[in-house]
Formats: sequence, C-alpha cells, structure tokens
Amino acid sequence: MIIAANLKTNLTRSATHRYIQEINSCVQKSSQEVIVFPAISSLDSFSAAVTVGTQNAYPVQSGAFTGEIGLQHLEEFGIKTILIGHSERRHILGESQEFIARKFHYFKKQGFKIIYCVGEPLAVRESSKEEMLTYLYKQYEGIDTSYENLIIAYEPVWAIGTGKIPTLENIKDIHAELKKKSSAPLLYGGSVKVNNVKDILEVKNVDGVLVGSAALYAEHFCSMIQAADELEK
Ligand code: 13P
Repeated sequence: MIIAANLKTNLTRSATHRYIQEINSCVQKSSQEVIVFPAISSLDSFSAAVTVGTQNAYPVQSGAFTGEIGLQHLEEFGIKTILIGHSERRHILGESQEFIARKFHYFKKQGFKIIYCVGEPLAVRESSKEEMLTYLYKQYEGIDTSYENLIIAYEPVWAIGTGKIPTLENIKDIHAELKKKSSAPLLYGGSVKVNNVKDILEVKNVDGVLVGSAALYAEHFCSMIQAADELEK
C-alpha cells in the first residue's frame, strides 16, 4: 500500500529532518511505500528509506516566476515525486484545471511520480451522484490517466482538516467509479487518523492513504504505517 504524508505549511527544515529520522526506523521495518511531502523550504537531501516529494513546483526548469520553485530546485535534492491538483491549490490558490494539466504534462515528461488529487466540495457532494461524478471527472480533463507513474488521491474537500469522512460504503462506491477512469493506484485522503486508517485501508479499491494533520506527529504516522503492515499479514 501507499502511505503518504502531506505536511502542508508545517514543520521547518530542522523539524522535518527530525521527523524523517523518527519515521525512518518504522519505514525500514515496513513493506509499505511511504512518501512524505514536506513544505517547500524544508526540501533537502534526506538519507532515509522514505521517498520525499514536493507539494508543488512551477512547470519550468528555472526562470522569472517569483515565489515559485522549478525543476532545478528539485533536481538539487534528487526529488522525482510531486503532488498535483491538491484541493488547497485549486481552491485557495486558484489553480485552474488547464494550468494543473500543464503542470501534469511537464512533470510527466520529466518522468516524475505524480500524486494527482481530485475531490468535490460539500455543495457538490450534497447534489446528485451524477453531478458529483461529473464534477470529479472534470478534474481528469487534460490528465493522462494511463501514465505509468501516476497515483490518484481522492480527497473530498469537505473532509480535509474537518474530522469528517465519508462512510466506508461511500468511499467504496466512489473509488469503484474512479477506478473506471484510471487503473492507477487510488488513495483516500481527508481526516485519516490513527483510529480510522485500518477501516479505510480495508475498503475495496483503496490502495493507500494521503494524510495531512494526523501525519504531523511522527509517532502517529508510524502507527498508520504499522496498521497497513498488519492488514497485509
Ligand atoms: P487532513 O488529513 O488534515 O484532513 O488533510 C488531508 C490532506 O489534504 C492531505 O493532502
């Protein structure tokens, strides 16, 4: 399974080094694929069993894009994994589907592993299933769903950082629909915690989880990795 931590705008560079060191021993003992996305300014070369990815980058080698980082900044640290389409970038930072697709193609061309996020806001969730799927499918526009280094993360916007999650039956249903669009590994994200991770990982077509706030504590994130190991025993 794939167990990923999105640290968002948390943990400084020194705190990230401590964090990665702390999770390293449980990652070494685990058979899960573990990916950590530190804040941009906390990217670095880490000597650990964990894959480090970037939460964002501009689709360019380098240039005049104030406040952004480009490919050369990732190459400095050997980073080949990127998160694209996260709901906070779509909704808070206003990234359009067209720009997201451009970013996708740039990093695909560079052979990056792409964790591509889709998810619906509450108003859409409260409409019909058909409308909800139409909304989600629009987030696949311009995306190569058969890219071999693609991982998709389904993260309902209303479940992110709220402590609310869809029912397990709901997750099963939506994941089954999304698998029709792409056979890439499909993660669930949104209020995954130590106490619900096992149930979520057991749902059909859930190939892993993308965890935000509950992953900020190395101990909690390690428990989630261990929970995945226990399920595979
Ligand atoms: P939370 O786990 O804090 O809900 O965040 C999920 C998320 O956005 C991961 O990318």
